[in-house]
Amino acid sequence: MCPMAHKQLTPQLFMARANLDDLPELQLPEGYVVRSYREGDGAAWERIVAAAFEREVQTGEFEKSMKQHKAFRPERVLFVLCGDVPVATASAWDSPGWGPQTGQLHMVGTKPEHRGKHLGYWVSVAALHQFGKEGRRDVMLSTDDFRLPAIKTYLQMGFEPVLVHENQPRRWRDVFAAIDQPGLSAKFAEILDGPVFKPRA
Ligand SMILES: CC(C)(COP(=O)(O)OP(=O)(O)OC[C@H]1O[C@@H](n2cnc3c(N)ncnc32)[C@H](O)[C@@H]1OP(=O)(O)O)[C@@H](O)C(=O)NCCC(=O)NCCS
Repeated sequence: MCPMAHKQLTPQLFMARANLDDLPELQLPEGYVVRSYREGDGAAWERIVAAAFEREVQTGEFEKSMKQHKAFRPERVLFVLCGDVPVATASAWDSPGWGPQTGQLHMVGTKPEHRGKHLGYWVSVAALHQFGKEGRRDVMLSTDDFRLPAIKTYLQMGFEPVLVHENQPRRWRDVFAAIDQPGLSAKFAEILDGPVFKPRA
């Protein structure tokens, strides 16, 4: 089946969590556990990413884009497992242009058949705990307007919009309407009416 086409607006939306205080303790639904990367998990990561992002993933993509990346450390790549099968992932990554004190929540995905249980939330919380262990100060991420379950998840985790372009106040208001939370436009009015942040290149 052809994956649904989504209009990708540019630049991507950014969000940030201003600190790593008050992180929830991990509370996975029954039957699920969290652990970090173990040698040989690359193929499982590729299967999750292919299914979650509905795109082709070449064998070896994990090796190339994650394991050989200078940000890679086994403890930074988190998985939720159902039994012994990895079904969701998130990574606690570096954030080029935002400084070493800022972590980047990266490559969050849940296999479609395991959705509806907030596994993306829990695996991302595990990544935030990793940032805490590393002594990071705050966390950012980039996402797309059409990734509504992801944006809902990030808002539940305490992330807030960060404007990086003049077209984004309107886009954020559209997103809040699309997730049926138009009140967030008022909650984040100061951000949406405020200046645009230019990360260092
Ligand atoms: C983002 C993702 C990991 C979340 O997976 P998950 O944790 O299983 O998410 P859930 O199915 O439990 O849904 C999370 C929330 O989104 C809501 N949601 C689900 N589908 C939705 C949709 N189409 N529109 C709006 N909200 C939606 C759920 O109702 C839930 O909200 P709630 O907490 O109020 O109940 C998963 O959707 C995914 O892999 N998406 C594709 C990859 C992606 O976009 N990754 C993020 C890149 S930035």
